[in-house]
Amino acid sequence: MLSKKIGIDLGTSSVTVYVKGEGIVLREPPADDRAGPTLQRVIGRVIGRQRIFRPDVMLSVPGAVTGVERRAVLEATMQAGAKSAYLIEKPLAAAIGAGIAIASTDGIAVCDLGASGAEAAVIVQGEMVTFAVIRAGGERLDQAIVQAVAARHGVAIDRREGERLKLELGRALAPERGRARVAQAKAAGGGEVSIDAAEVHAALAPLLDELVRGLEEVIGLTPPAVAPALARNGLVLSGGAAQLPDLDRFLGGRLRLPVVVARNAQACVATGTGLALDNLQMIRRGQHYIT
Ligand SMILES: Nc1ncnc2c1ncn2[C@@H]1O[C@H](COP(=O)(O)OP(=O)(O)OP(=O)(O)O)[C@@H](O)[C@H]1O
Ligand SMILES: [Mg+2]
Repeated sequence: MLSKKIGIDLGTSSVTVYVKGEGIVLREPPADDRAGPTLQRVIGRVIGRQRIFRPDVMLSVPGAVTGVERRAVLEATMQAGAKSAYLIEKPLAAAIGAGIAIASTDGIAVCDLGASGAEAAVIVQGEMVTFAVIRAGGERLDQAIVQAVAARHGVAIDRREGERLKLELGRALAPERGRARVAQAKAAGGGEVSIDAAEVHAALAPLLDELVRGLEEVIGLTPPAVAPALARNGLVLSGGAAQLPDLDRFLGGRLRLPVVVARNAQACVATGTGLALDNLQMIRRGQHYIT
């Protein structure tokens, strides 16, 4: 048997592993220190007892990762048993995982919207020409709901309940007046409180505006020659939080671009990270690998 090709996405809310030929084989919450032990455990589980053929491993890293951090992650991956270790920036991985032929694109925007925030980039011919981190991710949406419930009802709910309300009632576009659905949330001190979708929307709106501003900035920094291609190809969303209902229509309206949510949005980064092992010439141009 040949050595496995493994893509690993060390996300804030989940570690996701893609194995070439098998697909997503693992998704679980990360341990506290995400570089060393988590990598050991995850790689160990994927390769099992068969340790003769060590795997090629690609890891996704934040677009703004420093050289020191790159080196630390690469070394931890080698120590965990990899034959070779490579890094790829999350927006590039997200785009590959979304099925975009990044090497030949004349200009497309991608935004991976995870738990901790969003990473957005414009990609032209395999390279990120603009990049930004936007601090409006799923966890801040949850917190905004928690705060809104406290402010309007004087009731404390925990973050999990905030997330549950988001998943149950959250939408990027305002619900029609008088037609907002209602859900119950458990108060931290016991008892329940009734929340409607209009309240949830009002809590999310400022963060969605922040997301729009961040995306406008990334798109605004694009070289003018790329603008026509961008207007045509638009924005692709990935990440768990990209699944917020109506987010595509909301962003499309505000940015005046075609916006789509990738299929299997939450797995795009991990999938693209694994698939990138088949396109190493792209990665080798940078200094982000050890063999
Ligand atoms: N249907 C949905 N609607 C809205 N949000 C969702 C939905 N499904 C998942 N989420 C949110 O997506 C987030 C997790 O997404 P994802 O798994 O992409 O994050 P991550 O990769 O762990 O984090 P990061 O990339 O920021 O490190 C959570 O905040 C979760 O509440
Ligand atoms: Mg992620």
